[in-house]
Amino acid sequence: MAFRLDGKVALVTGGSRGIGLETANYLAERGAKLFLVDVDEKGLNETVQILKEQGLEVESCAADISNSESAQKAVDSCVEQFEKIDILVNNAGITRDGLAIRMKDADWEMVLQVNLTGSFYMARAAAKYMMRARAGRIVNVASVVGMMGNAGQANYAASKAGVIGMTKSLAKELASRGVTVNAVAPGFIETKMTEAMTEEAQKAVLSVVPMKRYGKPAEVASAIGFLASEQAAYITGQVVVVDGGLNM
Ligand SMILES: NC(=O)c1ccc[n+]([C@@H]2O[C@H](COP(=O)([O-])OP(=O)(O)OC[C@H]3O[C@@H](n4cnc5c(N)ncnc54)[C@H](O)[C@@H]3O)[C@@H](O)[C@H]2O)c1
Repeated sequence: MAFRLDGKVALVTGGSRGIGLETANYLAERGAKLFLVDVDEKGLNETVQILKEQGLEVESCAADISNSESAQKAVDSCVEQFEKIDILVNNAGITRDGLAIRMKDADWEMVLQVNLTGSFYMARAAAKYMMRARAGRIVNVASVVGMMGNAGQANYAASKAGVIGMTKSLAKELASRGVTVNAVAPGFIETKMTEAMTEEAQKAVLSVVPMKRYGKPAEVASAIGFLASEQAAYITGQVVVVDGGLNM
């Protein structure tokens, strides 16, 4: 039988579309209550409306996770609504690609600020509640690019490598309190993020993926869901790679 998450409260950042939305659906199908956080207020409201029409228990907060105060408020607001936070999925992320020698300071800084610093703000805020509850699951969405590097993505690769280092450090700090911290590292997944790649770049990617196809958001969501479950209680500080064999 599939694992259940009945009664669990899951906060998913970047939950209004792509991997975040797919993960939200996956967790809700197993019984979790959802708290979605996204900087795109319009997209978030539309998504929440659709999920509510499906009969799901979902609340939300439009917030920019790269702002320390907003991140803290988002987590506090989840706890105000649902009285706790059991699962944090740090999924929100952005790209601003370009070759390093031409990369603008703003593009370097923004990607680091959202992907790494924002994930840290959210994890720090959630960890305080989880430590008190002596239970919790934090799943950070990294990327294989953070392990392998990628031309044109020095900022993104650095941010995702940082997420992996942060994951392992938090895992060590929180293990004795019953809180696990893991990362999922997707390869190339069919979402708006990969749609933005040029046809040439897409061809180059598929030529090196042993499975010769993109992954689906649902294939990432199931790995995140497992790490968020009771069944993964003895797994912490790990990076689960979901990439069709790209990085092995
Ligand atoms: N698509 C891929 O191939 C791929 C591969 C590896 C890793 N990832 C990672 O998976 C995660 C989700 O990617 P996706 O492809 O679904 O992307 P996406 O662009 O479809 O969705 C990202 C979501 O995050 C939100 N967001 C962006 N900045 C935010 C901020 N500052 N505060 C709050 N929300 C914010 C966006 O509004 C959007 O809803 C990202 O962390 C991405 O780096 C994606």
